[in-house]
Amino acid sequence: MTKAIRFHETGGADVLKLEDVEVGEPGPGQARVRHSYIAVNFIDIYFRTGRYPLALPNGLGSDAVGVVEAVGPGVDDIRVGDRVGYLIGPQGAYSQVRVMPADVLIPLPDGISDRTAATLMMKGMTAQYLFRQVYPLQGGETILYHAAAGGVGLIACQWARALGVTMIGTVSTDEKAAMAKANGCAHTIVTSRENIAQRVKEITDGKGVPVVFDSVGKDTLEASLDCLQPRGSLVSNGTSSGAVVLDTKVLAGKGSIWLTRPAMIHYIHPRAHMLDMARELFDHVLAGRIVSEPQQVFALADAADAHRALEGRKTTGATVLVP
Ligand SMILES: NC(=O)c1ccc[n+]([C@@H]2O[C@H](COP(=O)([O-])OP(=O)(O)OC[C@H]3O[C@@H](n4cnc5c(N)ncnc54)[C@H](OP(=O)(O)O)[C@@H]3O)[C@@H](O)[C@H]2O)c1
Repeated sequence: MTKAIRFHETGGADVLKLEDVEVGEPGPGQARVRHSYIAVNFIDIYFRTGRYPLALPNGLGSDAVGVVEAVGPGVDDIRVGDRVGYLIGPQGAYSQVRVMPADVLIPLPDGISDRTAATLMMKGMTAQYLFRQVYPLQGGETILYHAAAGGVGLIACQWARALGVTMIGTVSTDEKAAMAKANGCAHTIVTSRENIAQRVKEITDGKGVPVVFDSVGKDTLEASLDCLQPRGSLVSNGTSSGAVVLDTKVLAGKGSIWLTRPAMIHYIHPRAHMLDMARELFDHVLAGRIVSEPQQVFALADAADAHRALEGRKTTGATVLVP
């Protein structure tokens, strides 16, 4: 028996319950992982509330690090005792121990602690695919990035700086602005008191930006479109404030804007490519260009409190659970 967070109905954070669950032996192609840290991501809230449907009851979470305890038949590149992390696979990371498909496990390098790795798997790999695959940044661009002090955001600030990109980041408070700036965000816009499009025009001498990375969605869509240069790109990579509803003729009116709604799952296969993405991320961390530690740490049993903090915009950087 092991402890895991499960939910039997969708809804508020209260639906998350700590339960005893059975963990069996790994079957063919599987490995059993004992978690040291579990990462909380905004997508977990989409699943909990039912915005992304799941068959219930179910576990939650897709992002954790730990040590391999056992492997099943046919697993040859992951061994007992390996330190690993993952960010895709079935829901259920909010648990002490679980069986996982071995081909989603990413070996962790010696120079990166489990605690740091727990902030990197989903969040760092998201920065990788947004900046290096969805809209490959060349260096020298000025970009707009929403929620710059968030979990993905603080890594994105540092990755942009490492690429020689000038990031304009939106945040809701002055404290979050200071944090984004300390992580390499060149300019911040405090959304509670500043107009996003007006500030972007001031910062860019009226030119606007070639690309906006918008994970906030409903509340920022219009401003994002107003910040773009003609034929600029809107990367709509999340909906923290609510779903985006858009009549595509607006894209013509705003300057023949390119729009994409990317999902990690389409940028991470095959396994060799996933490992290359992770290597690039880990190289930045090992070289000190990206420094990442959890900013909020909760016990696994308090996962509901972690969700309340994240959806209440009370967090900065990464939030982790300790099993
Ligand atoms: N497409 C993909 O493959 C992919 C992968 C990973 C993550 N994502 C998305 O990237 C985003 C960031 O994920 P994360 O886990 O790192 O979360 P996060 O950025 O740490 O948290 C969300 C942030 O969004 C901002 N926000 C603005 N309006 C909000 C509202 N009404 N409710 C809640 N937050 C609001 C808040 O920052 P301020 O208070 O500073 O505004 C908040 O801290 C999420 O939208 C997530 O779904 C997408």
